[in-house]
Amino acid sequence: MAVTLAFDVYGTLIDTHGLVAMLKGMVGDRAAEFSRTWRERQLEYAFRRALMQNYVPFSVCTAQALDHTCTLYKTPLRPDQRTALLDAYRTLPAFPDVADGLARLRAAGFRLYAFSNGTKAAVRTLLDAAGIADLFLGVISTDDVRSFKPDPAVYSHFLGAAGATDAETWLVSSNPFDVIGALSAGWRAAWVRRSSEALFDPWGLAPTVTVTDLRDLAAAIAP
Ligand code: 2OP
Repeated sequence: MAVTLAFDVYGTLIDTHGLVAMLKGMVGDRAAEFSRTWRERQLEYAFRRALMQNYVPFSVCTAQALDHTCTLYKTPLRPDQRTALLDAYRTLPAFPDVADGLARLRAAGFRLYAFSNGTKAAVRTLLDAAGIADLFLGVISTDDVRSFKPDPAVYSHFLGAAGATDAETWLVSSNPFDVIGALSAGWRAAWVRRSSEALFDPWGLAPTVTVTDLRDLAAAIAP
C-alpha cells in the first residue's frame, strides 16, 4: 500500500504568524512577540484541555489565548479589532514552499491527508483559502475524538480514519511536540524546520528525517 502522509496544519502548512502586519496596527512594535505568545498560549490551552478532558473546539483555545495575550501585554483590543483578527486567523496564509512541495509528494504517489487540532470545517476553510485543498485525500481532525495532539488517542484515530497502519504512516510537522507524539505512537515523522532558530526537545527522540523546505520532502522519504 502507498505510504500515507499526515500533514500538521497550523505552523506546518499554514503560517500562524501571518497576521503580524495586521497586529502591528493594533499592538505596535511588539507585534511579532505578541504573535509568538498568542500561539504558545493557544497550544498550552489545547494541551491542558486534553489532559483535563475538558474539550472545546481549537478556535476557542485560539480566542481565549488572544484575550490572555492582550491582558499580558496590556494591549486591550476594541471588539471590532478582536473580531477582525479572529476572522483573519481563519484564512491565514500558507508558507511559500507548501503548494509545490505537496504537488511533488502527490505526484510521487504518497497519500496526503491534513491532520489537525482544528475542526474539519476550520481546516477546509484554511486549505481552500490557500488553494491547496484539492491536493489532499481528506481532512482528519482531533475534534472527532474531542481531544488534541499529542494525546495518543488522536494518532490512533488518524490511522482508523485514513485506513492506514502505523508502519506505513508518516507525520509531517514543524511542531516538535507533534513529531514526538507521532514517534511515540510508532509512526515515522518528518520535522519541517524552516528556521535554524527552531529547536527540538531534548527527550532522547529524533525526527526520522528533517527538511528545511517542503519541496525536499519527497526525495528525503522516497521508499
Ligand atoms: C495543528 O494541529 C498542532 O496546531 C497544530 O494543526
